[in-house]
Amino acid sequence: MRDVTKDNITDVFMGYMGQNTDPRLKEVMGSLVRHLHNFAREVNLTHAEWNKGIAFLEQAGEISDAERHEFVLLSDVLGLSSLVDMLHNRPEGTSSSVLGPFHITGSPPLEVGGDMRQDFTTQVLLVEGVVKDPDGNPIPGATLDIWQTAPNGLYSSQDPDQDTYSFHGLQTVGADGRYAFTTVKPVEYTVPSDGPVGDILRACGRHPWRPSHLHFIAEAEGFRPLVTEVFPEDDPYLDQDTVFGVREDLVMRYEHMPAGSFPQTGYALSGQVPDAYLKVAFDLTLVPK
Ligand code: BEZ
Ligand code: FE
Repeated sequence: MRDVTKDNITDVFMGYMGQNTDPRLKEVMGSLVRHLHNFAREVNLTHAEWNKGIAFLEQAGEISDAERHEFVLLSDVLGLSSLVDMLHNRPEGTSSSVLGPFHITGSPPLEVGGDMRQDFTTQVLLVEGVVKDPDGNPIPGATLDIWQTAPNGLYSSQDPDQDTYSFHGLQTVGADGRYAFTTVKPVEYTVPSDGPVGDILRACGRHPWRPSHLHFIAEAEGFRPLVTEVFPEDDPYLDQDTVFGVREDLVMRYEHMPAGSFPQTGYALSGQVPDAYLKVAFDLTLVPK
């Protein structure tokens, strides 16, 4: 094709794709390019502006490595990760939410009632609930991969002072589907903002904060895996999560429990918590495959 114009270039692009191109790839690539072309036409994109865009992509590539995932972060702050999540969410189950870059595999087993606080001595938070199906039946043998920030707002992989699996645990629920563990309150934190994605946030007048949260991956035989997070209702960033992860059903409430009321049995910390503590009850509903 030699008479390519600004109006027909999208059709020309489609025509250049081979006959045997995978149909789904053709659909996705075709739509992506159509939207890119329409975007350039709509804003009358200049060379200087697109050069800036290219420079951004190059910087994102340069800063990325096995620990730093700048393109994932870009997808997160643009709302694309959350949108993809919501497109495949099933309303009969607990909402899914972003995985984020701080999940690590191989978390150590955490018995039901176990403790994740290790050396941190801030107020105890007891988290418990039931992993169940949409009819409310418990799901015996479900596993929960749990992770969160330490009180300093850092995940273990960001903090040389924490052990590799600090605030990470893998819990397998029993016949009653019940999970329980003690920990500390997660805290709000900023997504990495010292790279090109941080520049975009600043240029758009946005902050890099996420509300505090606990991360869960719940899995059970015959059910769709659930990657999610739960957020306390009193967090100042609940309505302005920079990665758009909050959903109405993922909001939890801290119950303030009086001194002397910590359960005497059933928890690793039983008999060791004389003070007031916080409690959260949060059930997780998995959807059959
Ligand atoms: C997180 O929750 O760990 C997270 C999610 C998206 C971007 C950065 C962090
Ligand atoms: Fe997180």
